Amino acid sequence: MIRASQHRVVAVVGTGVVGRSWMRVFARAGLETRIWDLDPVQTDLAWDWYKSDQKRIRKQGGMRKAVARNERSNVIRCDDLAEALAGATWVQESCPENLETKRAVFADLDRLADPKAVLASSTASLDMTLIAEGLGGAGRCLVAHPVNPPHVIPLVEVLGGQGTDPLAIRRAIRFLERVGQTPVLLRRYAPGFLLNRLQAALLREALHLVATGVARADAIETVVKDGLGLRWAFLGPFDVPNTNADGGIREYFARRGDVLGALWDDLGKGNPLTPELIERVGETLDAMHRQVAPENLREWRDDMIVRLRRLKAMHPPGGEPEPEEE
Ligand SMILES: NC(=O)c1ccc[n+]([C@@H]2O[C@H](COP(=O)([O-])OP(=O)(O)OC[C@H]3O[C@@H](n4cnc5c(N)ncnc54)[C@H](O)[C@@H]3O)[C@@H](O)[C@H]2O)c1
Repeated sequence: MIRASQHRVVAVVGTGVVGRSWMRVFARAGLETRIWDLDPVQTDLAWDWYKSDQKRIRKQGGMRKAVARNERSNVIRCDDLAEALAGATWVQESCPENLETKRAVFADLDRLADPKAVLASSTASLDMTLIAEGLGGAGRCLVAHPVNPPHVIPLVEVLGGQGTDPLAIRRAIRFLERVGQTPVLLRRYAPGFLLNRLQAALLREALHLVATGVARADAIETVVKDGLGLRWAFLGPFDVPNTNADGGIREYFARRGDVLGALWDDLGKGNPLTPELIERVGETLDAMHRQVAPENLREWRDDMIVRLRRLKAMHPPGGEPEPEEE
């Protein structure tokens, strides 16, 4: 199996919402990035989006023309899967979230890809044990689940199936770090992995609070945007209580464990979604965003995340501020 520094050519299979963003991660890292989609229209759309988004960023002064052109020159649009896989030592699959589809695609990847290639799936929920079941190359198949869009948000959840070679996992972690992502390793499969489980827990309670009339959706948005979320970009759910008591997390839990326990017992259970609740939340969001089109909201979100990441890199905790990169 190949070392992280030896990857020169990668293949992106499926160029929808997530695949097109992976394309930018790899192209930005200077790798030859071969892209292919079952629907050629999707490849064209991904390419057009790449160009227009770079243009938008350039207009804001966020990228020089030569850099944009150079990044794009790393991308090769391919007419069939075999062409996309030629020479690729990392394959990032981003096809629809359906076990049968993934199984069929991985069977093709295992048959056609270089024997040394790592085959990574963007799946957000499926178990690699099932996707790679029966494949001769199950040892090189793993999950590399990004957060959308991965060219803006670096976190990638990495885990194997029962047949995955631990060496492939270690090399995947190093490779993802090399292309600028932040991999985290899961020790075993759990539906939704880490990020979506945590997100689902909060979302269920948010819906429960709206359903039971405690607050409207816009109030809950504010609680997260102007309260919880401001800390969460810097400290996670353990470090927040760790810094909220002078004696750290042990003191925090010793003092507040009972209160927290009573709160946990009171939280909403089960699936809160009903058509009426969905409509209620939808109406509140429509009213909140009357002035801003959804695509502008997405672009603003991504631009702000890029700025926040720059700020974090410049000011590491307890460290000297670093000069901002050109
Ligand atoms: N969208 C997200 O927020 C998000 C986040 C993290 C992970 N994911 C995961 O990424 C994967 C892709 O999701 P998406 O949102 O980009 O979906 P999408 O529908 O936008 O794109 C899927 C693409 O796969 C193509 N495709 C379908 N069958 C194919 C095949 N056999 N071979 C090659 N291409 C094929 C489609 O034409 C389409 O372009 C899913 O597994 C999803 O769970 C999505």
